Amino acid sequence: MKKIALALIVAGSTLMAADGAALYKKCVACHGANGEKKALNKSEVITGWDSAKTVEALNGYKAGTRNIKGMGGLMKGQVASYSDADIKAVSDYIAGLK
Ligand code: HEC
Repeated sequence: MKKIALALIVAGSTLMAADGAALYKKCVACHGANGEKKALNKSEVITGWDSAKTVEALNGYKAGTRNIKGMGGLMKGQVASYSDADIKAVSDYIAGLK
């Protein structure tokens, strides 16, 4: 909970319906608990990425228009079921990672 509160403050948001920390749980295996890993040795380190930048990237994967290292299809599967609110929440959470 402490981390969530911190992420909220960092993102300057008030209250969110979606739980960014919970949504990020399935990302940990590839991106690391703090976003510090290059997922499958392909992605950038996403620790502390600006929320808007992450939202743009995730929306691109969801729409199937983003594919930087040929693994866009894999990322599409990760966020396909995420709503706009979910994408915003997980992005705000990532922005608070150190
Ligand atoms: C199975 C491993 C895996 C999982 C799980 C995964 N990712 Fe990724 N992610 C990748 C790979 C590989 C890429 C590079 C995709 C490409 O070619 O554009 C990537 C790219 C990204 C990028 C863009 C980074 C860049 O280099 O431009 C973001 C942001 C991201 N992932 C966030 C997430 C989030 C948030 C989740 C959880 C909802 C998640 N990922 C789950 C493997 C994973």
